[in-house]
Amino acid sequence: MADYDFDVLVIGAGPGGYVAAIRAAQLGLKTACAESRETLGGTCLNVGCIPSKALLHASEYYEEAHGGGLTKFGITFSGVTLDLDQMHAEKSKAVGELTKGIEGLFKKNKVEWLKGRASFVSKDTVEVGGRSVRAKNIVIATGSSVTPLPGVTIDEKVVVSSTGALALPKVPEHMVVIGGGVIGLELGSVWKRLGAKVTVIEFLDQILPGMDGEIRKEANKLFKKQGLEMKLSTKVTGVVVKGGKASVTIEPAAGGAAEVIEADAVLVAIGRRPNTDGLALEQAGLTTNSRGQIEIDHDFATVVPGIWAIGDVVPGPMLAHKAEDEGVAVAENIAGLTGIVNHDVIPAVVYTHPEIASVGLTEEQAKERGEIKVGKFPFLANSRAKTNRDTDGFVKIIADAKSDRVLGVHIISSLAGTLIAEAAIAMEFGATSEDIAYTCHAHPTHAEAIKEAAMAVQGKPIHM
Ligand code: FAD
Ligand code: NAI
Repeated sequence: MADYDFDVLVIGAGPGGYVAAIRAAQLGLKTACAESRETLGGTCLNVGCIPSKALLHASEYYEEAHGGGLTKFGITFSGVTLDLDQMHAEKSKAVGELTKGIEGLFKKNKVEWLKGRASFVSKDTVEVGGRSVRAKNIVIATGSSVTPLPGVTIDEKVVVSSTGALALPKVPEHMVVIGGGVIGLELGSVWKRLGAKVTVIEFLDQILPGMDGEIRKEANKLFKKQGLEMKLSTKVTGVVVKGGKASVTIEPAAGGAAEVIEADAVLVAIGRRPNTDGLALEQAGLTTNSRGQIEIDHDFATVVPGIWAIGDVVPGPMLAHKAEDEGVAVAENIAGLTGIVNHDVIPAVVYTHPEIASVGLTEEQAKERGEIKVGKFPFLANSRAKTNRDTDGFVKIIADAKSDRVLGVHIISSLAGTLIAEAAIAMEFGATSEDIAYTCHAHPTHAEAIKEAAMAVQGKPIHM
């Protein structure tokens, strides 16, 4: 240690980096974390998970109150108004409390925050904020940024990325969302609820790529019912901004007649790409793959001994909880323990209404691997969903035909994001559908739909 400044230097203080730094410090390693943002917490806390969920939550309240959704329960409102500045202020308060919280955790655990942009000088030395820092282990956790769309300039005013879409100063009359993925649907939902007309342009013939086929179809149906206009198999060929308005040129993905639609906000949400610009990876002897990601092995080690990488900058789903788990595991590996992440059991949640959640294999993926059994249960037959007058969606469980082991669980429901945790635990412990079916679930709860879907795998649900 004598000639090293730190045992561990983490680059990036997002959910991957800050968690890795805290765990490394907890394990007795002298740790620093370089972060160029003004606040800790990365994309997730500053311009991702947290502010988006704050707006999703608040906009749902507004829609319920304003749209008359509670009238059926005998609750009516009059004179409901929207104070968007206040909604943004409350969101910023939540973000501020959480980012400050990470600062507190760094202090508590004695993680030194090196403020500034880090770049490699050699395989064990990094320059950050005008300081040269030598570390025995370096963890790259630099995250990701929005993928630009050729021919479309993001000005964060009229043509926005998710960051701009989280801070629009007024509700657009018409928002065009380019990309029917997670960001497009979550933030499209926010502005739709607050009063905008929203048109989603998706290149593929279905929204939410990567999700179970049946879930994608059901989600598309429900979003259309809510009034989101879906233009599938459609591509954007250009956006021209003039006088605060955008003219968006679209045409069929397979080619054909072009059409121009006018909008006063355009959200570009066609995916995210790893952040490695300015890191001078070559100084450390590192390269990126064709997708711009840093390749790692099962232990999160790169090809250069002493350099590790986690989170959005490495292959795998770009999710905060995946980054966090990798943060814990990489620190444990650096400390000589055995840090493992089971990448087969990473839940994913889209926080729309209803929520869409999944863990494990889709039906399409599972079928490719062998014989399966599928059990489904609709929330229309779940007593609690009925009570709440909130019956959209279903639970789908996919199990191996021979062993009955659960391979995948997919849920559309207002509470899907919470319910999926049960499925993840079951899969982590290698449960069969029978294990779930014979586990007592409290009544009346939405969770009973998981039990019934498991019973349906055996062909014997009770309430259907
Ligand atoms: P990041 O959070 O991106 O953090 C990387 C940090 O590194 C950044 O703060 C950056 O400033 C810093 N950095 C980069 N380069 C350098 C450098 N050279 N020197 C110093 N610092 C550097 N995921 C979920 O699981 N749930 C959600 O609900 C969710 N919602 C999202 C909503 C939106 C709008 C967006 C955009 C993303 C959302 N995500 C969500 C994805 C989630 O934010 C990412 O998967 C997660 O933040 C990745 O964590 P990370 O630590 O790898 O990187
Ligand atoms: P995404 O990959 O989820 O969706 C992008 C969509 O854009 C896809 O459907 C794709 O087919 C489409 N597309 C690509 N190019 C296009 C084009 N030229 N024209 C029209 N459509 C096009 O990416 P998104 O929504 O930008 O989100 C990025 C990542 O952020 C996600 O992969 C996810 O990991 C993470 N995220 C997670 C959230 C969560 O967990 N709730 C919330 C928000 C983001």
